[in-house]
Amino acid sequence: MTEFSFVHRYIPATEPGRPPLLLLHGTGGNEDDLLPLGKAISPGSALLSPRGKVLENGMPRFFRRLAEGVFDEADVRKRANELADFVAEARKAYGLEAPIAVGFSNGANIAAAMLLLRPEALAGAALLRAMVPLSEMPKVDLAGKRVLMLSGAMDPIIPAENAARLATGLTASGALIEHRTLPVGHGLSQMDLQGLTKWLAEDRATADNPRV
Ligand code: MLT
Repeated sequence: MTEFSFVHRYIPATEPGRPPLLLLHGTGGNEDDLLPLGKAISPGSALLSPRGKVLENGMPRFFRRLAEGVFDEADVRKRANELADFVAEARKAYGLEAPIAVGFSNGANIAAAMLLLRPEALAGAALLRAMVPLSEMPKVDLAGKRVLMLSGAMDPIIPAENAARLATGLTASGALIEHRTLPVGHGLSQMDLQGLTKWLAEDRATADNPRV
């Protein structure tokens, strides 16, 4: 049996053609947190949901931080690489295509770091309440990768300027970014669910009818 490097949940696909989703929870969450969201936004997709390995006062996260919004960037790099290695392991063990990451808060930040450091690990990413994970954005080719960013206009944790800077950096790397600021706070809302569902459906529409 395969020994995996992350505790995780895996739910096999029941509908061929739906993209696999890599679900990445927020601080204090775990591998069960985003399974209902994954099922709701893309019914029948394979779901791969790891638990962050870093503990902050007993709360799982995907990388260390020095204070709220102040990241240990050496750890961000190390953990983004570890997580990308896990995705490769899981793809081999479960026979998956590259997944689309769906990350919330700390999970969105590690997904953004993976895009910048190990772009081959992800087919695309939906970043819910993300901020810039690395102060110096690495040069990377994200041509053709779809990225959805949903920010909150009333988010007390993430300054609008910071989210905008991430969107600009990803766009400059060639990603196909859709960045929307919703009239909500840091928590997930019904509008996130609708936005995610629509964005994933557009991907399927494009795959079914490739534009030339
Ligand atoms: C982070 O630490 O990744 C961000 O501050 C978001 C959070 O987890 O609260």
